[in-house]
Amino acid sequence: PYPLYAELRRTPVARQEDGSYVVSTYREITDLLHNPHLSSDTRNLSHPTAGAEEQATPAFINLDPPAHDRLRRMTMRHFGPPHTPGLVTGMEDDLTGIVGSLIDDLAGKEQIDLVDDFAYPFPVTVICRLLGVPHEDEPRFHLWVDDVVNAIDYNPKTDPKEKLEKGIQARNELRRYLGGLVDQRHGRPGGEDLLARLANDDGPDGRMTDEEIVATANLLLIAGHETTVNLITNGMLTLLRHPQVLQRLRHEPDLVVPLTEELLRYEPPVHIIPWRAAYSDITVADTVIPKSSRIMLMLASGSRDPNRFHEPDRFDPDRRDNQHLGFGSGIHLCFGGPLARRETQIALTELARRLDRPRLVADPPPYRRSPVLRGPVHLHIEQGD
Ligand code: HEM
Repeated sequence: PYPLYAELRRTPVARQEDGSYVVSTYREITDLLHNPHLSSDTRNLSHPTAGAEEQATPAFINLDPPAHDRLRRMTMRHFGPPHTPGLVTGMEDDLTGIVGSLIDDLAGKEQIDLVDDFAYPFPVTVICRLLGVPHEDEPRFHLWVDDVVNAIDYNPKTDPKEKLEKGIQARNELRRYLGGLVDQRHGRPGGEDLLARLANDDGPDGRMTDEEIVATANLLLIAGHETTVNLITNGMLTLLRHPQVLQRLRHEPDLVVPLTEELLRYEPPVHIIPWRAAYSDITVADTVIPKSSRIMLMLASGSRDPNRFHEPDRFDPDRRDNQHLGFGSGIHLCFGGPLARRETQIALTELARRLDRPRLVADPPPYRRSPVLRGPVHLHIEQGD
């Protein structure tokens, strides 16, 4: 039940020794995410975070309006629902096909690792299709993503420096590769993949530069991968801990919709928005946060706030009025929410249907160390007799 979060919520807006602020209650987090005086641009922090990238062209998750809104709008126009019919709308069969063939490979195995054998390869395959990465390049793409994602957890005290260096090298190679794909897409209007659409867009916002397209493609890949892996894995773990819900899911396929929302509230992949910068002095819950302070928003704590959710520590797949913070809130609300929801719904439905009496090998499983992203590194499951 995350006792640390209950403790934090006793002081909804808490100043840390280093001058940053930790916000842990639902109402205050939501207010701040809708406050135009908060910036997502790392360049506005007086002490940039260690992970902050020096980039000529930041991706729109790290930009404020109007630059953020323009790039988000342009990408959204092609990406799809709920705002417009786009690429994601047409992907239902692809998603079912990818899930089906991954589960075919699991059938008959006595022990599987849900992370390595299923949850990890699934979203990266989906994003490759969306971007238009040729099939034969997918294995290379997976390896780069592995190295980039591995380096997210880099801890200078315990990890070899090689892990970070590999991550940086993979990130650069990935960008160069994406740049090459964008180059090929120019002058091919009518191309169906996202890169072709962005490279030839003559819509009301003008064209994106090649650097902007590469930064956006890279963002979709990084923001959409590990998060989806963790939602599927946390989801299956929670179902195995609540066998009656797993059983219900086999017979009531519609349950997967509210179930997925409850997972985003109860075991969310993103626990913290690690920073926003205050553009000016901001007053929240009677506390003045001074201009340029770093603000950390504890999303997972807000989603367990008893002032907002009835019995928040109870996993209730039938919960109504479930406005969780799993995808954030406000102008940076997760762009990939509709895709991530469909991926997870299809994955959980099919896993529940096709795994043979699945059981956890170890509970709790080993977790990744990051305080921001929460999910098991491996989830070993036994099946059959
Ligand atoms: C933003 C969570 C899947 C693309 C966010 C934010 C959260 C989040 C909490 C807000 C960040 C902030 O306010 O600074 C998740 C979770 C996912 C998921 C839990 C899976 C379960 C995806 C997928 C994609 C994606 C599949 C794309 C393919 C993005 C982008 C943003 C974003 C582009 C930035 C939006 C903006 O700045 O306007 N996501 N995400 N996410 N997410 Fe996701």
